[in-house]
Amino acid sequence: MLAEHTASITASLPLKSGPLHIVDLGCGTGAGTFALLARFPEAEVAAVDSSADHLRRLREKAEASGVDDRVRTVQADLDAAWPDLGTPELVWASASMHHMADPARTLRKVHELLAPGGLFAVVEPVGFPRFLPEGGPEERPGLEERIHAASDQHHAEHVPHCGADWGPGLTDAGFTVEETRTITVHLDGSRHEAIGRYALRGLQRMRGTVAQALPAEDLTALDRLLAADGPHSILRRADLAVRTERTVWAARRA
Ligand SMILES: C[S@@+](CC[C@H](N)C(=O)[O-])C[C@H]1O[C@@H](n2cnc3c(N)ncnc32)[C@H](O)[C@@H]1O
Repeated sequence: MLAEHTASITASLPLKSGPLHIVDLGCGTGAGTFALLARFPEAEVAAVDSSADHLRRLREKAEASGVDDRVRTVQADLDAAWPDLGTPELVWASASMHHMADPARTLRKVHELLAPGGLFAVVEPVGFPRFLPEGGPEERPGLEERIHAASDQHHAEHVPHCGADWGPGLTDAGFTVEETRTITVHLDGSRHEAIGRYALRGLQRMRGTVAQALPAEDLTALDRLLAADGPHSILRRADLAVRTERTVWAARRA
């Protein structure tokens, strides 16, 4: 869903020349990897993740789109010993830094890894996307905001680096932060037919973390939205959007 925005982020990175060696840290199924391959057609990308399943899906997509000769998948736990990732001119980490057990160590490792003059792009979501009209849904006003409040509470306790300001950590690791910017994403559901499925999956995942914290009436209303075949299913709604923000830090190794 965010491919257009990811492409605009890769297009505006402060790079003097196209990098040839890129590392995508915590690549998942490759949202960033494919954007980078498209933006830098001469480059090879080492796509690193701890999940064998994500890497398998990324390889399948790379084969299907004929770019598999430019992607090397590397299964590694970045909280443990790092594999050989060469000397990239660009390291990209999208929505992965907040998962690191010791982010300060990861930032130092990236600084050591990068070629002199190389760039580290950290992209982090500012919270989880909203999908329903503000204040919605109408049958249970404010439900989506209460789900987010419960989710924020959960993340503050269990994923403490979520929503962090990475600027000071990057500076402490030896980087010069050249740019920090926050991008507002607003995708209109009427132009993106996949939004319903994205919203369904997103809210299903959030249900797992917020169910205990929500009042029974909210949970019932959430389950009505999540009942894919039901009359209140989120898949049936024509008023969905994706509203979110992403912050980008572009940091240079001297
Ligand atoms: C939210 S996903 C982001 C995926 C992708 N970068 C994107 O922007 O869509 C976070 C990814 O980081 C990976 N990850 C989390 N902790 C990790 C670790 N310690 N070592 C390697 N990968 C890790 C997860 O497996 C997951 O694929």
